[in-house]
Amino acid sequence: MIRVTTHDGQQLELTPDPGLGLAQRIFLAGLWDGVPLCAGMGKCGLCRVRYAAAPPHPAPEEIKRLGGEAIAQGWRLSCLHPALACAIELPEPKRSARPRSSARAEANPGEPLTLAVDLGTTSIHWAALAAGRVLAHGQGLNPQMGLGSEVMSRLGFAARQGGADILAELVRRRLHTLVSQAGTAHGRTVERLCVAGNSAMTCLLLGLSVGGLARAPYRLDYTGGEDRIIAADLPPARIPPLLSPFVGADLSAGLASLVFGPEPPQFPYLLADLGTNGEFVLALSPEEYLLASVPMGPALEGVGLRHGRTAAPGAVRAFGLTPAGLSAQYVERAPLPGEDTGITGVGYLSLAAALLRAGVLDEWGRFMVPATPLGKRIANGLRVPSAESGGAETGEAVLELGGGFVLPASDVEELVKVKAAFNLALSRLLAESGLRPGALTAVYLAGAMGEHVDARDLAALGFLPEVLAARLVRAGNTSLAGAELLLQSPEAWDWVRALPNVCRALDLASDPRFGALFVERMVLHHVA
Ligand code: FES
Repeated sequence: MIRVTTHDGQQLELTPDPGLGLAQRIFLAGLWDGVPLCAGMGKCGLCRVRYAAAPPHPAPEEIKRLGGEAIAQGWRLSCLHPALACAIELPEPKRSARPRSSARAEANPGEPLTLAVDLGTTSIHWAALAAGRVLAHGQGLNPQMGLGSEVMSRLGFAARQGGADILAELVRRRLHTLVSQAGTAHGRTVERLCVAGNSAMTCLLLGLSVGGLARAPYRLDYTGGEDRIIAADLPPARIPPLLSPFVGADLSAGLASLVFGPEPPQFPYLLADLGTNGEFVLALSPEEYLLASVPMGPALEGVGLRHGRTAAPGAVRAFGLTPAGLSAQYVERAPLPGEDTGITGVGYLSLAAALLRAGVLDEWGRFMVPATPLGKRIANGLRVPSAESGGAETGEAVLELGGGFVLPASDVEELVKVKAAFNLALSRLLAESGLRPGALTAVYLAGAMGEHVDARDLAALGFLPEVLAARLVRAGNTSLAGAELLLQSPEAWDWVRALPNVCRALDLASDPRFGALFVERMVLHHVA
């Protein structure tokens, strides 16, 4: 048995399962609901447990993350060890992202209530609507997060005996809760849903095979574009078209929100929806849309980086440079005394851009000590590992940023990978279309970066060439906006259902040059 003692004295026994990670076993017991685990990456440190006896041999990344003293006391990262019989103590979760919601308006008598849902790999965003008005909206973590933080690890869990059923049930239960809460709040039954998710999240929710999405050559066995019953206890759901194995209903809904929005885009333009997967559509003409996707990891969603957070009040959303060094800017307000704060994915991009400008990072993402007074001041916080240093940071260089924040070299590497993935998708789409960057009328940025990112930071880091940074439009959550639209507009629904006929997908991952092209772009300047 796995004997668990929680921080508040609860004792429980879980059945061992060598095929599961210990963190997954704990998560499935409901003990870490809402904790934004990186699920096996060994990065977030939120899955810490203390073995009461016979702790397993520590992995190098947990020695780096926890430090020698904690390791000696029996602390381990439970995502890095199998769910075997043991006795463990669970500390109070350092962080949890409870669902948040806010109400805006009341429904009028007789108006039917509907619910639009953006089903992301990391987060779920929703809006309750009546007669085209948003009555309330909210967001929370995808309840599958503890079973894999990005699409491929989620699909890996689905391939286990019973895994797909567990994943489907977790999201259906969450939808059921949202439907019940909306119904109670507005005094009527939710009559219809629209669920816009990427291809994997959609198929998992619907209980459909995801075998074609799990390994190359990738294929899509379900294409959406229909009204469907998800479960007996849920209202009928509108599922926008899935466009390719990795460009899903979130993108088709997002595109509809732009086309039917107040300022329809002019061809040619690019829409990029960035989450753990980057989905891109290059709209060339009404008859031709080119699609591409690249895995980006969960860093932009604030998961897996040392101080990563989703964008909540008190989190750092940007860093500026002042003569005194770095200065943090927060979402809505500075953190309250004692509040556990962090840095959003966009905040990390801003940090990397500031360090690059100050010369504390070079174009390869390596820490440097520049000659300028400001650069030297910031680089004073640089700690390079040595045999004698010991402690939590042994094994990699870290930059102490002040305010309790540190930036490890491995976090910079994650950011460089995100940049390389974005750069690769953009440059391959442009090459395929024969267009120069300057030919695009606009780049619409949606998803995790779509609300707060600074175009100058993206240009500085090389996500985009300067000419496109100047045409960047922060489009916000286009997937949710599209789901709202498709619940109300028969014209938009007809348009989006016909969209697959004019789409063509580039299969970047199957290109034998993928690895070389990716590595070539792991630099902090744009590579065409
Ligand atoms: S879930 Fe183990 S370190 Fe993040």
